[in-house]
Amino acid sequence: VTFWGLLLVIQFGYKLTVPQKVKANRGSCLLIPCQFTSVRPVGSSPVGVWKVGSKTGTKVSSNNQSLDIWKNLNVYLVGDLKVKNCTTLLYGIQPNHAKKYYFREETIPYNFDELYSLDLPVINTPAQMMEGPLVTLSCSAPAPCADENPSIRWDDLLNGTVTQNETTRADGNKAMVSILTFRASFLHNKKTLICTAQYTVGSVNKTAKRTTTLNVLYRPRNTSAVTNVHGVISAGTTVTLRCTSKANPPANYTWFKVDGPSDSLRGSGQELLLRKATQNDNGRYVCQAENQYGRENSTALSLEVMRK
Ligand SMILES: *[C@@H]1O[C@H](CO)[C@@H](O)[C@H](O)[C@H]1NC(C)=O
Ligand SMILES: *[C@@H]1O[C@H](CO)[C@@H](O)[C@H](O)[C@H]1NC(C)=O
Ligand SMILES: *[C@@H]1O[C@H](CO)[C@@H](O)[C@H](O)[C@H]1NC(C)=O
Ligand SMILES: *[C@@H]1O[C@H](CO)[C@@H](O)[C@H](O)[C@H]1NC(C)=O
Ligand SMILES: *[C@@H]1O[C@H](CO)[C@@H](O)[C@H](O)[C@H]1NC(C)=O
Ligand SMILES: *[C@@H]1O[C@H](CO)[C@@H](O)[C@H](O)[C@H]1NC(C)=O
Ligand SMILES: *[C@@H]1O[C@H](CO)[C@@H](O)[C@H](O)[C@H]1NC(C)=O
Ligand SMILES: *[C@@H]1O[C@H](CO)[C@@H](O)[C@H](O)[C@H]1NC(C)=O
Repeated sequence: VTFWGLLLVIQFGYKLTVPQKVKANRGSCLLIPCQFTSVRPVGSSPVGVWKVGSKTGTKVSSNNQSLDIWKNLNVYLVGDLKVKNCTTLLYGIQPNHAKKYYFREETIPYNFDELYSLDLPVINTPAQMMEGPLVTLSCSAPAPCADENPSIRWDDLLNGTVTQNETTRADGNKAMVSILTFRASFLHNKKTLICTAQYTVGSVNKTAKRTTTLNVLYRPRNTSAVTNVHGVISAGTTVTLRCTSKANPPANYTWFKVDGPSDSLRGSGQELLLRKATQNDNGRYVCQAENQYGRENSTALSLEVMRK
């Protein structure tokens, strides 16, 4: 058994040098980076064929000749089939061309499998950000055709501002970049943002999305202490005090007993357990939540133990 594979990624490709005469037709362009593998060698006069719908479907091109539903397109098989590069450039895409296509090299008597996807935009998010300062996120999407740049939008601007710009990536390909600048707040922690790039190819809209999740570091907030007992309690009761707080990273907890002007440290940890409470435990209790960004105290809880 011989396996034949083809990895075909349809993307709104990159800048390509095409013959001058093609430029006049520059309209809706699509570059299909395409590479195949096969155990058998390609024949000396390779013929690359695209088929529509299925591996046994109608031929829509043979090398640079366009056929059937592609007959009004310009097809350029720009890859070198001898090295199994089937990269194809299409000009003049229309809505009726949005279908599945299969590639085949005719001197190898088998069809290849297909697999294709849209090239995704890329979001750059700082791994973490501090509450308070301005933060910038950027989302970049490939921009193949100068006259058909993608539009990029964010699902939420977080009360910030957006600028959009065209850049050239390290590999020489053009990209549109949208930069979102906002002031990070603890309310944004764990928020998921979606960046969507929309391409209009001919009169067809295609979108590609990326998501990112924000990690905002912040000092403890909403620190509060609760207990399992109510009112005046009888001596010997076991009392649990429990502290909660919102913080990123999570806070640690310290308990204080506040007796008039003097404080005493009573323990650490989210819960403070008073076994067999006595009158000595009477007083006001405060928990302090702390992480590396700050501290916050809960309001005081009062405990009153009945005389024996
Ligand atoms: C298809 O056309 C391109 C551009 O003119 C050319 O470079 C390429 O060699 C042609 N491919 C074939 C298989 O004829
Ligand atoms: C395939 O051919 C295209 C067009 O010539 C080229 O840009 C691309 O780098 C080639 N791919 C590989 C993997 O060689
Ligand atoms: C958004 O920013 C404006 C101006 O900086 C400010 O007045 C407003 O309160 C902010 N809204 C929110 C929801 O943060
Ligand atoms: C757009 O990018 C160019 C080149 O990277 C830069 O010089 C220019 O300042 C940018 N414009 C904006 C509005 O960011
Ligand atoms: C494509 O998107 C544009 C802008 O959002 C819209 O005006 C147009 O109607 C859309 N076209 C199709 C075919 O959905
Ligand atoms: C603290 O509580 C207030 C009021 O319930 C709420 O609006 C705020 O988001 C809370 N803070 C955190 C960090 O959850
Ligand atoms: C709590 O966290 C702070 C900051 O990370 C640290 O300095 C302190 O020693 C910790 N306290 C306890 C009781 O673990
Ligand atoms: C919390 O209360 C304790 C006891 O009164 C005190 O020592 C500590 O400084 C307070 N912490 C904060 C952040 O106010």
